[in-house]
Amino acid sequence: MIAPSILSADFARLGEEADRVDNADWLHVDVMDAHFVPNLTLGLPVVKSLLKSTALPLDCHLMIDDPDRWAPGYAEAGAANVTFHIEAARDAVQTARAIRAAGALAGLSIKPGTPIEPYLEVLREFDTLLVMTVEPGFGGQSFMSEVLPKVRRARNEVTAGHLRLFIEVDGGIALDTIEAAAEAGADVFVAGSAVYDAADPHAAVTALRDRARPAMNGTGTGSGSGSGETSG
Ligand code: DX5
Ligand code: ZN
Repeated sequence: MIAPSILSADFARLGEEADRVDNADWLHVDVMDAHFVPNLTLGLPVVKSLLKSTALPLDCHLMIDDPDRWAPGYAEAGAANVTFHIEAARDAVQTARAIRAAGALAGLSIKPGTPIEPYLEVLREFDTLLVMTVEPGFGGQSFMSEVLPKVRRARNEVTAGHLRLFIEVDGGIALDTIEAAAEAGADVFVAGSAVYDAADPHAAVTALRDRARPAMNGTGTGSGSGSGETSG
């Protein structure tokens, strides 16, 4: 699945910017509070407006302090997937359960320096693992290939049947990096600048998907990759 990030879109025209990528699978919405990350974007009122102006499922990535308090509200509003950071959470399991109870998928995100091993058990309560491939806070940064072993580790857990997750990568995803992420086992790809800085964002989404698909080796759980993987 390809999830364009509106962080790189025109914030005064978000409805139109969503329409430009109507061939995407999810629309990625970066919520930043200027505390958890040194940048400020948008919050629940803008998400509620976006929900009314696009049919794309919203993938809300909360880079905020106190997600335990705020994350369920995004699920109640109608977001498809609500991801928060383990580094900011007090009770990740309880928050995941609240998100799911409100009808959304629950996502857990880890920063580049955060290991995955301590959270393998907690991840059983989640639908999505978002592995940051840049330091969160800004678009347009360079892809950090050194975090791909965490993607591989997560994919192995899914393949072994220990976890059932979308594995999402976010940061620096472009035509020259998406294959490495797909090969490592990611099946959801966030792309901000690679989509919205392109002359034709719609074509950029298609090009990214076409580049990722052959690299996925049947590991994907996402949209129509024709995977021959069996579930046992
Ligand atoms: C960064 C955000 C990303 C950002 C990615 O903290 O979480 O979603 O929009 O932007 P690019 O694709 O330009 O690296
Ligand atoms: Zn993001």
